[in-house]
Amino acid sequence: MITDEVRKKIRAIVGPQNALESDLERFSYSYDSSFVPLLPANKPEIVVRPLTVEEVSQLMAVAYQHEIPVTPRGAASGRTGGSVPLQGGISLCLDRMTRIVELDEKNMTVTAEAGVRTIDLYNHCATRGLFYPPDPASWKFSTIGGNVAENAGGMRAVKYGVTSDYVMGLEVVLADGTVLETGGKAVKNVTGYDLKRLFTGSEGTLGVITRALLRLIPMPKRRGTLRIAFGSLDDGCATVHRMLQAGIVPAAAEIMDRVSIEAVARYSRMEIDPAVEACLIVEIDGEDEAALETQTKRIEAVAKECGSREFLAARSEKESDELWAVRRGLSSAVAALAPNRLGEDISVPRDAFPEVVRRIRAISEKYRLPIAVYGHAGDGNLHPSVLCDLANPEEAKRVHQAVDEIFAAALAVGGTLSGEHGIGITKRPYIAQALGEAGLRTLKAVKKALDPKGILNPGKIW
Ligand code: LAC
Ligand code: ZN
Repeated sequence: MITDEVRKKIRAIVGPQNALESDLERFSYSYDSSFVPLLPANKPEIVVRPLTVEEVSQLMAVAYQHEIPVTPRGAASGRTGGSVPLQGGISLCLDRMTRIVELDEKNMTVTAEAGVRTIDLYNHCATRGLFYPPDPASWKFSTIGGNVAENAGGMRAVKYGVTSDYVMGLEVVLADGTVLETGGKAVKNVTGYDLKRLFTGSEGTLGVITRALLRLIPMPKRRGTLRIAFGSLDDGCATVHRMLQAGIVPAAAEIMDRVSIEAVARYSRMEIDPAVEACLIVEIDGEDEAALETQTKRIEAVAKECGSREFLAARSEKESDELWAVRRGLSSAVAALAPNRLGEDISVPRDAFPEVVRRIRAISEKYRLPIAVYGHAGDGNLHPSVLCDLANPEEAKRVHQAVDEIFAAALAVGGTLSGEHGIGITKRPYIAQALGEAGLRTLKAVKKALDPKGILNPGKIW
């Protein structure tokens, strides 16, 4: 319980207007995009919205002294409950820290505070011909701090990698309020342990990320979008596989099955050919139109060999944006199909992608549950989404068995539980199996060293 005396201290640090204490306000910070069931216990006792790292540091010092749980939070677009406060305490919302501090064109880096929206950072760099590639589906509202904390992926990971591939340095407030600066603009750096990498993907359990120094690359001069339709999901998977084997590396290669396509069709009132069972959306980029044309022709030829039914190259930026809007809206469209949706995030070696998709289809039939299959086919990261009604106990039992089997299938082919959404609350029961005893022990030792009182995002990961 946060005492009146501590509340006073907190208000004095951030100003009373940035310490939210009403029931309704606290309720608004009790959930995220994971659809974790809402529980009264998940409500924070107070929500604080600091503006500076000094304020974050002072808040952490108070929390440390009084052993108050702290749950850091960006835009709450996370899919595994990472920003849901499980033990009351403080919801530490970094949404007011929105400064892009520096764009260093010579060193090709950008420094941004945690609350900067991903798309704003992308657009800011793009005006100078520089490219920040990580583009989670939620990039219109997700924040850089959250992206780093979850090591967010996105569509372009197939060619450009994920958030951790761009983190050069971090400013992190540690559990006791100490401000740690780690990394820097030097491209090569092996001075001590790679702490920036440790904090990236740590889900708010090791420290509060307040600022990131990010690497940029030159913006590709041209981009194109392709939509390819198939009579089977297998044909779509085979196309991605053969494309990569042939040395064609698209910027993005997204797959969606029939259930996903129907979900999109529902809200966009789109007509779909009854024979289409899968669709690929591919982004290509390059130096000039000729480079795009060559790639388009090669991809078309590969798709044909794999039995594609339709091949469309977007003719304008507008058409291309529309195709990507469909893809980015897919998760919400799929969620609207049933009372509940359990959206998974398995990631498998690329050559195992077709096999894991076949196994998921079999699980869907075995448990008589629709499972929408879509995701980042180019890098083997898939979001099988089980559509169900958890209020029906008999169905709920089948759902949990199906989810267990999906994870088992991912691990069996050499994959992992989570490619880009983290463990949070929803994947906790499976982490021991995924990491093994030694792995888990090592993780816990790191946690204990950095958060001895267990106040940082308690209840997450394990
Ligand atoms: C996506 C989110 C769910 O790829 O990661 O749509
Ligand atoms: Zn995704």
